[in-house]
Amino acid sequence: MSSYKATYESWTNNPEEFWAKEAETITWDQRWDKVFDANEGPFGQWFPGGKCNTCFNALDRHVVDRPGQAAIIYHSQMTGEVKEISYEALLGEVEAFAKVIQNQGVEKGDRVIIYMPMIPEAAIAMLACARIGAVHSVVFGGFAAEELSIRINDCSPKLIIAASCGLEPNRVIAYKPLIDKAIEIADHKVSGTIIFQREGQEPGQMGPIDKDWKTLIDEVKLKGEKADCVSVDATDPLYVLYTSGTTGKPKGVVRDHGGHMVALKWTMKNFYGIEPGEVMWAASDVGWVVGHSYIVYGPLLQGATTLIFEGKPVGTPDAGVFWKVIEQHNVNVLFTAPTAIRAIKREDPNGELMEKADLTSLRALFLAGERADPDTINWSAESLKVPVIDHWWQTETGWPITGIPFGLEKLPTKVGSSNLPMPGYQIDILDEEGNVLPAGDIGAITVKLPLPPGCAPTLWGDTSRYIESYLTTFDGYYETADAGYIDEDGYVYVMARTDDVINVAGHRLSTGGMEEVVASHKDVAECAVFGMNDKLKGQLPIGFIVLNNGVERSNEEIESEVVKLVREKIGPVAAFKTAVSVNRLPKTRSGKILRGTMRKIANGEEFKLPATIDDPAILDEIKEALGSRNIG
Ligand code: COA
Ligand code: AMP
Repeated sequence: MSSYKATYESWTNNPEEFWAKEAETITWDQRWDKVFDANEGPFGQWFPGGKCNTCFNALDRHVVDRPGQAAIIYHSQMTGEVKEISYEALLGEVEAFAKVIQNQGVEKGDRVIIYMPMIPEAAIAMLACARIGAVHSVVFGGFAAEELSIRINDCSPKLIIAASCGLEPNRVIAYKPLIDKAIEIADHKVSGTIIFQREGQEPGQMGPIDKDWKTLIDEVKLKGEKADCVSVDATDPLYVLYTSGTTGKPKGVVRDHGGHMVALKWTMKNFYGIEPGEVMWAASDVGWVVGHSYIVYGPLLQGATTLIFEGKPVGTPDAGVFWKVIEQHNVNVLFTAPTAIRAIKREDPNGELMEKADLTSLRALFLAGERADPDTINWSAESLKVPVIDHWWQTETGWPITGIPFGLEKLPTKVGSSNLPMPGYQIDILDEEGNVLPAGDIGAITVKLPLPPGCAPTLWGDTSRYIESYLTTFDGYYETADAGYIDEDGYVYVMARTDDVINVAGHRLSTGGMEEVVASHKDVAECAVFGMNDKLKGQLPIGFIVLNNGVERSNEEIESEVVKLVREKIGPVAAFKTAVSVNRLPKTRSGKILRGTMRKIANGEEFKLPATIDDPAILDEIKEALGSRNIG
């Protein structure tokens, strides 16, 4: 029997024994009472009674046997700075910064929002929170003030930790005005901020509640003060990470301490094949789940080296940067989103820049965040000459549901599939009535409960939304909101979302949330936003707007205001650049907007005329409006 099959079977035969054995790889302050308690939380809880500290496992324990090894390699293409931070040095920074935030009144269980670009201080802030049992909530820098304020209201942080700015290729994004505005419009009143002023950049303007990172940390270092690890319950929250749902209110995905460590540790060796001392590069952002799991916690729990990269796959300065970075830092495993590879391929189709670099250290490329199209997989596998592994997961799960467990067994991949289920996940494809479908049939992809360790036990402050979103449609299953099928060999194909979530350049966004913003424009009577296919970003949002009667300004003027509004309210990350005015939207006779049909028209796909359509002539109007923009 193959190692994958044997491992999967050992999990199926006795899940609790399987995870209890994995839990031995973590240092616990107190052993758990039960491996799993089905009576706690919406579906159960892992390792209740256990006490531990995630920061201890990520840093302190490695300082004993690998103090001088790089924990972080920081490589900024934006500033040119490259530096290594050893485990010992990182622990020193984290101990000091944890003391700083304690001095600001942050205690175990308090929430702290972190709004930072890809700099080591982002990881230091996260680990410092983990050290004292505070709950961090990292917000991606591409979100606007309003989105930040929604998160402030939802998780009521005591403190915001931020950098003065983020650096995009074409502009400097001053974070401080965004933070000031978010604090001003939020109902929850934040008592203080700590601002890391980036060297060589315009400093953020400090106000009465703002404190300077460097001053505070120098003070505690001078006094020789540091914070010890605070022992927390394995089931206590480590972080809240907001992700898009079907409405404008994001979901606060909660991650616990104990199960999270156990699951990530398992994946580092068995899935990504990373041993202590090796280099993992997850080319994502700390603001996304990939950044939490595989830029910060996973590699550090494993005693590996993580690469924090500030830059883009193209344009900083060219499409060869990923390969140069791999060569320069001997990266063993690269993880990125297919969109990054598509961007590189577009600029360097023959892989000439790739050939210039020595990529002998690289063992595999892992892709996730969106469906990996066969072209992207084939091109990268042929050019890089290493296995290219598509794997599928979600903010909610925190680690791969399917993929190839590269460290365990180098099984063949199937192009177009996100590969095989990992131990912890029994996947069934269900029809609308909840019947298990046979191999090859498309349906809702579901995970049999209970979810494994590391998966979100609940949503922040909203257990009923958790139950409603994930556990209600199919009895005994977690609903992933992805649709697809499993083939005869057990390989899983993830084809589409079943809700209003779209995936733009690997970023998960809510079209419902965008519709709320578009509809708030005073001249818009109604609207529909959906995702259309895009060769580079996978999907791009497009909005149809119907203007109020009597509006006298030009359509173009209002369209550009709508585009600006989405950028202002949600942020540039929404990549909402196309608003199209039409006289009316296609609807069913009961008044439901036919978004699916419009999407098919925009994508130039075949579609069946919906039997319930109110007026089929509207579809021609839609086609015409799209045609005028060369879409569809
Ligand atoms: N802070 C502020 N703004 C940001 C930002 C950040 N951290 N990240 C992105 N943005 C802005 C971009 O500047 C861009 O603004 P623009 O409309 O003025 O051009 C906008 O948000 C859209 O960003 P994105 O969709 O990421 O496109 P891009 O033009 O910056 O980059 C690719 C294009 C293909 C290179 C890029 O999409 C890419 O590689 N993305 C990485 C994918 C990824 O890491 N996904 C995470 C899941 S693994
Ligand atoms: P996020 O929570 O941001 O990680 O987004 C999760 C969603 O991205 C999933 O529910 C899928 O819709 C999509 N996704 C992530 N990885 C893949 C993949 N490998 N193949 C297809 N879709 C994916």
